[in-house]
Amino acid sequence: MIPSIEWTKDNKVKMIDQTLLPHELKFLEFDNFRDVATSIKVMNIRGAPAIGVAAAMGMALATIEYKDLPKERFIEKMEDAANTIRNTRPTASNLFWAVNRIWKIIETYPDNPHGLSDLVIEESQIMAQEDINVNKNIGKNGATLLEDGDTVLTHCNAGSLATVQYGTALAPVRAAIEEGKKISVIADETRPRLQGARLTAYECHYDKIPVNVISDTSSGLIMMLGKVNKVIVGTDRVTSDAVFNKIGTYLVALAAKDNNIPFYVAAPTSTLSLDETVEDVTIEQRDSSEVSMVLGKVQIVPDGVECLNYAFDITPFRLVSGIITEDGVFTPEELLKKYKNS
Ligand code: MRU
Repeated sequence: MIPSIEWTKDNKVKMIDQTLLPHELKFLEFDNFRDVATSIKVMNIRGAPAIGVAAAMGMALATIEYKDLPKERFIEKMEDAANTIRNTRPTASNLFWAVNRIWKIIETYPDNPHGLSDLVIEESQIMAQEDINVNKNIGKNGATLLEDGDTVLTHCNAGSLATVQYGTALAPVRAAIEEGKKISVIADETRPRLQGARLTAYECHYDKIPVNVISDTSSGLIMMLGKVNKVIVGTDRVTSDAVFNKIGTYLVALAAKDNNIPFYVAAPTSTLSLDETVEDVTIEQRDSSEVSMVLGKVQIVPDGVECLNYAFDITPFRLVSGIITEDGVFTPEELLKKYKNS
């Protein structure tokens, strides 16, 4: 897959418009942080690592816009920009992690906004490259869990499109195939935004990875019928007790447990928030219309009935067989031991 986001030579942020896939592969270009923030909110770009990089690049655009201001005004404006970006989507750790990482540079060089802008632009590009490297290592580590002939069920899209490139949950699949193993994917369609049907199926098909799409309600039966060897999902935030991921992940984890199928979570360390517990996390609630209208087009709920639209759910650690990071594969207990307070 081509990168989902990149910084252009003429200082713009270029991204795939994921709302148009699978029908159209179109790119958007933005020259200001407000448009980048909107693109995160309306999900032109989505997936925790990808929105982290978009946030960093949005901050870089803000430094360009404000670099001629006196120092105090510059900092004030950058604080506003950081808040605008932070207020787009509340659940993915990566968004906050990325803004904080850029903020550390802003704090260090408050006297020279011109040089600072160059540093922030450079840092956002380093973060984009790091994302790809991290995903490749997740792939290598996760591939050790996959055997020739395995079918991997995944939920939502935690592939190349959800990152800069290569993906997290799909990284072990890609790496195992690169190693010569025959692996196929089952993608849950993932109501209401259909990231599995539209995006996971698109990128697997694009990269010639065998894929079947199922309705979300089928995953239990498909596991019971023995058609799934492993489940691998991505995550938006890992706290000290649970994994937050796309709504529906918890039900997949329950079905996997009941059918003795290993349930793995691919998590770059930028997604770890191990000082938090489930109570600390805001689960994003999106507009009712995402559920009542299929892709904004066909209304499937009677007029006047409101829908509840939680975007993410919580999978307790007891349902998680292993967490795959760029450093290795860990049980939840091992993960806490390795990364908590580190
Ligand atoms: O609402 P989305 O499409 O941003 O949700 C994406 C997911 O839930 C992914 O599984 C998660 O961000 C991990 S992406 C590598």
